[in-house]
Amino acid sequence: MDRNKTNKEWFKSFFKKDFYNFDFIPKKRTQEEVSFIIKASGIKKGFKILDIPCGAARHSLELAKKKFDVTALDYSKEYLEDAVKKAQKTGLKNITFVRKDMRKIDFREEFDLAINMFTSFGYFDDKDNYLFLKKIYRSLKKGGVFIIDIKNGVFRKNNLSEKNWDIIGDAIELQEFVWLNKTTLKNIWHKIENGEMKTRVFYLKVYDKKSLNKILKKAGFKVKKIYGDFDFSLLKKNSKRIIAVCKK
Ligand SMILES: C[S@@+](CC[C@H](N)C(=O)[O-])C[C@H]1O[C@@H](n2cnc3c(N)ncnc32)[C@H](O)[C@@H]1O
Repeated sequence: MDRNKTNKEWFKSFFKKDFYNFDFIPKKRTQEEVSFIIKASGIKKGFKILDIPCGAARHSLELAKKKFDVTALDYSKEYLEDAVKKAQKTGLKNITFVRKDMRKIDFREEFDLAINMFTSFGYFDDKDNYLFLKKIYRSLKKGGVFIIDIKNGVFRKNNLSEKNWDIIGDAIELQEFVWLNKTTLKNIWHKIENGEMKTRVFYLKVYDKKSLNKILKKAGFKVKKIYGDFDFSLLKKNSKRIIAVCKK
């Protein structure tokens, strides 16, 4: 099936608090990811970071607490409102929130580091996925670092069942996966909570080491290291994630 015929704006209805929120992610995991980001990028206090897309800003808030100067960008009004409240409660002044479609950013050589975390890439068609990376490249200062963390496509291909269910908090989640072509996954998620069932769909272009490397290089990046986990272990076939550390 042609990805262009799918709903390109799916993210506007999928990423709503009543359907997808970040409560299921343990704080410890976020802290480990943040430690990795700091060590792998070599950034120093006061450096400028772009967290894109930031969701409820779990990384941005931690990074701001550590005295980095953070810009946290997302399309979701609800996630940003929650993040603003948390920043205010903690008295953080070194974090700027921006509500924008990440494809429409227009920063030029402003940041020392950009991060794209928790499989926040591959949401669009090939052209827009590539143009997004180009825009990240343009946002970075010369020598700036880009860290991208996505699910490992090879692991997904080998381990994904057609259906999967889980209990998350008070809700039951049923997830269905359909490959539209070799690299595009249609995800149909049902959430049953308080006797009500909601169904939402999202589309994901799945990358492996080779295809991620290729698109990053095409966008101008030098790919310095590719890890398979936040403990700095290198990527293996059965690694669940691909974490690429790139330079401008
Ligand atoms: C899986 S979440 C990850 C968020 C964050 N990086 C984290 O690790 O918690 C993906 C995020 O992408 C945002 N998003 C999706 N499409 C977007 C777009 N076109 N422009 C800006 N944000 C978008 C969603 O609102 C959601 O917050």
